[in-house]
Order: sequence, then C-alpha cells, then structure tokens
Amino acid sequence: MEQYVIKGGNKLVGEVEIGGAKNAALAIIAAAIMTDETVVIDNLPDVRDVNVMIGAMEDIGVHIERIDRHTVKINATTIGRLSVDYEYIKKIRASYYLLGALLGKYKKAEVALPGGCNIGSRPIDLHVKGFKSLGSDVDVSYGLISVKAKRLIGSHIYMDKVSVGATINIMMAATLAEGKTTIENAAKEPHIVDVANFLNSMGANIRGAGTDVIRVFGVNKLHGTEYSVIPDQIEAGTFMFAAATTGGDVLVKNVIPKHLEATSAKLVDAGCQVVEYDDAVRVIGKEKLTATQVTTLPYPGFPTDMQPQMTAVLALAEGTSTVAETIFENRFKYVDELARMGANIQVEGNVAIIRGVDNYTGARVSAPDLRAGAALVIAGLAAEGITIVDDIHYIQRGYERFEEKLRGLGALIERTDSENDTQKFIRHVS
Ligand code: UD1
Repeated sequence: MEQYVIKGGNKLVGEVEIGGAKNAALAIIAAAIMTDETVVIDNLPDVRDVNVMIGAMEDIGVHIERIDRHTVKINATTIGRLSVDYEYIKKIRASYYLLGALLGKYKKAEVALPGGCNIGSRPIDLHVKGFKSLGSDVDVSYGLISVKAKRLIGSHIYMDKVSVGATINIMMAATLAEGKTTIENAAKEPHIVDVANFLNSMGANIRGAGTDVIRVFGVNKLHGTEYSVIPDQIEAGTFMFAAATTGGDVLVKNVIPKHLEATSAKLVDAGCQVVEYDDAVRVIGKEKLTATQVTTLPYPGFPTDMQPQMTAVLALAEGTSTVAETIFENRFKYVDELARMGANIQVEGNVAIIRGVDNYTGARVSAPDLRAGAALVIAGLAAEGITIVDDIHYIQRGYERFEEKLRGLGALIERTDSENDTQKFIRHVS
C-alpha cells in the first residue's frame, strides 16, 4: 500500500501550477456524451476520479482517445449500453452525472446508487425530484436508479437544498428537454458555470448559471466542441493552506482568484498576507497565526472541501478557533488523526473547537477521505519529525502529482510503497 512519508519543518517557498478542476471535469466529460459529434476537452486533471469516470464511459461503449496527459477526444456514437456498472459507481459518486447525460440524450439510463467519499449521508432525493419533474419515471430499487421518459418536458424545479450534483444533473437532462426549465435555489459553484459554458459551447441554451436561478431552454441536439476545464479551486486552496501552515511564501499559479475569495479571506483573518494577480495568488505566511471562525457554506461561502485543510491551519493558530460544518455531517473524522499529531481539537456536533498549539509532532496517520488526507499532509509538512500518511489512494482521487508539486516548493515528501523505501527515505532526510 502506498504512503506518503514527510519530514516536516521546511517552509514552502516558490511557485506551483494548478491543474484543471476535478469536479468540473467529471461533469464535463459525462456531458460530452450528449452529442454524436466529437468533443475535445483539455486541462483535464490526471487524477483517479477522472480516470475512473473515463473507464465507466468506455465501459458503456464511449470512444475516448487520450491525446496527451490532460487532453481527451470523446466520441459517443459507439455507446452500446445505457447502464453504468456498480464497479465504477462505488468508486466515484460523480458517475451519477451519466444519469443526467444519458437521460437527456437517450431518454433512458440506469446507474448503480453512488459511492464516493465517506463524509456523511449522501442522499439523491433532489436528483430524483428533478428527473421526475422533467417527466421521467424514476425507480430506485435493487441498488440501482433507473430513469426513463417518453419525452422530457421543461419544468419549474425548486431545490429544497442547494446541491451541486443535482443542479448539474438536472441542467444536463433539461438541455435536451422540450421547452424551458427553471431551476430555483440552484448551486452557484464555479463548476456549475463551467458545465453550463461547456454545454452552451455544444449548442445548449442555458442562462443564469452562477446565480440561484438557472433557465435552460431545451434544444433538439448538441454538436461537437473543444473546451478547456477551469482551474481547480480546491487544489489551489490546499497549496495556499500548505504555505500558511509552514509559514512559507508561495505563488499559486493558473487560478481564478475570484473563485478563491472565501479561502483567501480566511487566510487573511488568520494573519497571512494574500496578494491577488490576474491568474495567480501569492500567500505569505506568518510565524504565528491568529485564531478565527469558519463556517462552511455553498459557494460563494467557505467550501466544505477546504474544511479539513483549514482546520489543519488553525490547529497552529494562537487562541481558540471554531470551524462549523454545515454541508456534510460526518466530516470531522480526521480530527483524531490530527490529535495524534498534537492538535487540540474537540468536536461538538457540527463544530470543531480548536485550541491552537505551538507545533505538530510527526506521527503515523491514516487518510480517512480525500480532503482530510490533504489536511494530514499539510500538518505533516509543518510537523516536527517524520509523518507517515497511510491510505493515500484517497488523496490520489483528487490531486495530481501532489508530492512532486510539494517537493517543487521545498517540501521533504516521498511516496513509497514498501517499508524498505519508507525507511530509506527516513534515513536519507534524518
Ligand atoms: C459536490 C462535490 C463535493 C463537494 C460538494 C459540496 C463533486 C463531484 N463533488 O458533491 O466535492 O463537497 O459538492 O460542495 O462535484 N443533498 C441532498 N439530496 C440530494 C443531493 C444532496 O439532501 O439529492 C445534500 C447533501 O447531503 C449535502 C448537500 O445536499 O448535505 C450538498 O450536497 P451536494 O452539493 O449535492 O454535493 P455533491 O454534488 O455530492
């Protein structure tokens, strides 16, 4: 089993290049099957979740050619099956985007109930409500969601809760429905806008993405396109927080600073300096960080996907911080691991109460999920001594060449897959 071995204590300094947004890419490659013409997508991150999604699409017959590490050419004329296997769904929850895409194009789809990160109950009622509202029959049984419709008819859909996945799924299906669909209380995340822009580049007519009311005017068919995925705000934020925790100075390049506003604001609250450029942000850390209060919220609020990394930063801040999680109820499982590294954090309900300590001490810890795994790496970078992070397959779901990029900033980190290699690295850095 692969692990990260980290010798902490080096301030991260230098420049890092951010890749394409995983969550946008997952929806965009699924939506690419909604035309029979060829679609070329670049700035695709080479991460496990995206590669699993590509596997799921190939499995139903989609022809996907990898032009280079970050570019694929997709042609869906060869689709032979409208049923997506559990093998893929259990690995990535986002494979449910194939439901909306297949339903829009073929008026029929069957997808196993989704898996994904274990961060709380992940219902699909809003997706189901949306598909039904567009005129589909939806059946959830035997571990499968089956949707089919004679015709998809535009409709008015109010989302009882802001959901990224349901907004995208409904937007995709409604693109090829008859008439107008209005999605109210829609999610406003940057990748909603990116998926809408992508669909519009294929001939869809979607307006209002990025606001809480999205209007989709159905079209008969979509055509081929070439599209570049937006930068990953969560990868960017993770490097910003790694810079802050180590008291470093890092220029995070190829980002859209607007997407990082909530993250930047909290770093400033914690005492860091954040300088915004057109397509980069520079984070200059501070010897002693200051406590602050954070609440996760749908965009433009503070992202839940940055919550564990924020906690890893605040565990070293002077005073008492609080981090309230309002999106997923089970997202503090990493706290015990941080405690093993010396953090003083108490969880009460959905709030983590963090009493800042002077430093982390290296320990052997285990990544419980993708973003929590990144938080443990951040803590390890700042820790005294050696940290070993197990279960890094979670981290590989969403970070491309994570350790390489960190090494480029001066971190002492190695990915190893045997006790021998781990000990060799430890000897090398000791
Ligand atoms: C997406 C992101 C994930 C991020 C999350 C919130 C992808 C692939 N994943 O996940 O990284 O953490 O947005 O920003 O883009 N809910 C319901 N019923 C539903 C659907 C959701 O009650 O039918 C609830 C969820 O339990 C959660 C909240 O709505 O409490 C938000 O979930 P949602 O935005 O749908 O998250 P995902 O799209 O799964």
